[in-house]
Amino acid sequence: MALDFKHASLVEGIRFTAQVGVPNVLQGLFRKRPGVVSTVGRLPADALAYRLVAGLASSYGPDPFWVRVGGDEALLLTHPEDIETVLGGSPSPFASDPEAKRKGMTAFQPTALTISRGDLWTDRRAFAEAVLQTGSPLHSLAETFASVAAAEADGLLAGGDLSFQAINASFQRLTRRVVLGADAADDNALTDALGELMAAGNKMPGEPAEGYDAFHARLAAYVAAPDASALTGLIAGAPSTDETDVPGQLIHWLFAMGDTLPTNLYRALALLSAHPEALARVRAEADAAGSGTGTVEAVAGSAYLAGCILEAMRLWPTTALFGRVQAEEVRWKNGQKTPAGTQLLIHNLFNHRNRERVPYADQFAPEEWSEGSAGDDWSFNFFSHGPQGCPGAGMSIFLGQAFLGRLLAQATPRITRGTTLDAEKPLPYGWDVYTATIALDPVD
Ligand code: HEM
Repeated sequence: MALDFKHASLVEGIRFTAQVGVPNVLQGLFRKRPGVVSTVGRLPADALAYRLVAGLASSYGPDPFWVRVGGDEALLLTHPEDIETVLGGSPSPFASDPEAKRKGMTAFQPTALTISRGDLWTDRRAFAEAVLQTGSPLHSLAETFASVAAAEADGLLAGGDLSFQAINASFQRLTRRVVLGADAADDNALTDALGELMAAGNKMPGEPAEGYDAFHARLAAYVAAPDASALTGLIAGAPSTDETDVPGQLIHWLFAMGDTLPTNLYRALALLSAHPEALARVRAEADAAGSGTGTVEAVAGSAYLAGCILEAMRLWPTTALFGRVQAEEVRWKNGQKTPAGTQLLIHNLFNHRNRERVPYADQFAPEEWSEGSAGDDWSFNFFSHGPQGCPGAGMSIFLGQAFLGRLLAQATPRITRGTTLDAEKPLPYGWDVYTATIALDPVD
């Protein structure tokens, strides 16, 4: 007879909703609310969430188990094999458009790849992979990406102590330049408009927010006047149909490169400020590769520096929790069948730090990516995994390598405000970017 998966208790469900589900909603699912994120950082809600899920996993794991989130029960996945089943089977039978995500994203990107299913997903995915050149060791526009990233790094070096707001503004400009072209570099109003639409998404309206059509039209105008040195210049050569909605696909690229990436890079700088040996390795790697010369091969080859960025994402995932919903009935390997509509949750914050599985759980360990097997581990899903994994992962890392490589050749980061980090102690479960400042001390 088929076994049912275990169920966490009602009280545990209430705690899970309060400590894991609700904080994720309060922080803003799509546009983080700085004040709230900072309060959550102080609580420390992330540590409480980790402890709660660790307790549940030890009582009910390692198989998936049911836990209440609000009024519904969802299956929480903590074993890498189950995560592989689900993410390896996305978008079908495991669709990536659970109701809350679909309702929220519809406000600012109603035709987004990540909430598309079936043929529509295949169509839009082919377009995204062609332009982003997913999986390619070096993007055909890598030269431009590297020089734009280096210019932004130089600009920040001249600006004194580095706040998150400063690095974010810099990456918003970089993003407009890389995605839309030189003419868009100073189009701050476009970024502001997207911010407002995303804020509307937090309320999960289920329909495009006011101003969406005008925003879409602005993007369409950039697409209609492509820049050969930007991603718009590659659109004509990429597969698309009447269903693709090309301008609508660019929206995800804009916020992922403009918000998510600098958050991770700022945290990588914080980690390097507390790990001088790692910083020395970053510089030694750069010297050995002659990356002072700035060749794109040297940038892309800085594997240890890439490991530093990947560790920032593992330790403090910008996507703390994400989910799937079954598009059809699924039979699991224990014989259990779960019906269409079943919600599945992947709690990155716990899985990335699971001390039972990850020997270096609470340490900064870039070498696990550059020399170890972290890259093959389905426990680590800051970029997700499988057919629906982030198609911009390679580009993100390359931009990060180009930017940080340039910055670290000239400056040594030092946290001057915000949570301090101690390499001798387990690293905290969160590192709030909004309350921090990082000094960039010139290298002699
Ligand atoms: C550090 C930066 C980034 C992080 C941490 C990140 C993370 C993720 C994650 C976790 C997902 C899966 C979401 C889910 O299934 O619910 C995803 C999907 C996606 N990402 Fe990224 N991303 C980053 C940068 C980028 C960039 C720069 C681009 C484009 C230029 C991009 C484009 C996309 C797209 C289009 C999807 C949807 C894929 C699909 O559904 O098939 N991302 N990303």
